[in-house]
Amino acid sequence: MKIALIGFGKMGKTIKSLAEQAGDEVVLTIDVENKAHFTADNLRLADVAIEFTRPETALENVRTCLEAGIPVVCGTTGWLDGMEEAKAICEANNGAFFYASNYSVGVNIFFAVNRYLAMLMDGQRQYDVRMEEVHHTQKLDYPSGTAITLAQGVLSQISTKTDWQKFLQTTDNQQFEAAPNLLPIISKREENVPGTHVVTWHSSVDTIEISHVAHSREGFAKGALAAARWLVGKRGCFGMEEMLGF
Ligand SMILES: NC(=O)c1ccc[n+]([C@@H]2O[C@H](COP(=O)([O-])OP(=O)(O)OC[C@H]3O[C@@H](n4cnc5c(N)ncnc54)[C@H](OP(=O)(O)O)[C@@H]3O)[C@@H](O)[C@H]2O)c1
Repeated sequence: MKIALIGFGKMGKTIKSLAEQAGDEVVLTIDVENKAHFTADNLRLADVAIEFTRPETALENVRTCLEAGIPVVCGTTGWLDGMEEAKAICEANNGAFFYASNYSVGVNIFFAVNRYLAMLMDGQRQYDVRMEEVHHTQKLDYPSGTAITLAQGVLSQISTKTDWQKFLQTTDNQQFEAAPNLLPIISKREENVPGTHVVTWHSSVDTIEISHVAHSREGFAKGALAAARWLVGKRGCFGMEEMLGF
């Protein structure tokens, strides 16, 4: 598979290394310094583009790939407002677009477990639910895209919460309270944490907690490469549920 990498930060570098180990070829690498090379002609050297950049540039990068006729796998989080437009661009160009807030297979299993647990908890009014996510200090957005997906999973199953509310914990011992109808998501930023998510259901007599802890970025990179391989030759907008067959 010939890959164009859009964004050559922590994820772009991990993907390149794993792609080359798997015998794939990175034919184009675009970063902030060489954006002049981000042209349709250069993109067409690749079978697929993989985009991991910044929230404010993701939509335009996806547009450039789709208008060049190149399938694009996007992992940049924090730009959910632009997602419907990305899907419309994909449709208008009869292209292929894959988005996941988290490309780790384990996290996608965790999403399914989270929804199932929330379904069981609907009606168990003695429990209240909250979420915590921890990431490295360079992460720009909060809460994480993964936490938003987890929150949407809970909200889809229970009638007591109508939305989520974000909080950023900057010092120890901070206490956060959301309105009863809101699901609190508490974000923490600590050195060298690839990504930890915890969903807690608390009652006066016990606590049920499920968590996912990423050990490195490799799980995300492997999932993005698997998505790229799966996407080539397809038309439409896809996510991990389609690829994993959930
Ligand atoms: N979906 C998932 O599974 C998953 C997993 C991990 C991370 N992520 C997300 O992926 C994104 C990137 O993460 P990361 O850890 O790789 O961040 P990072 O290390 O900051 O890398 C982002 C790279 O993109 C470059 N960039 C910025 N704007 C660009 C543009 N317009 N065109 C091309 N390159 C551009 C940045 O350059 P400068 O540093 O010079 O700005 C940087 O090298 C974040 O949104 C993160 O939350 C998603």
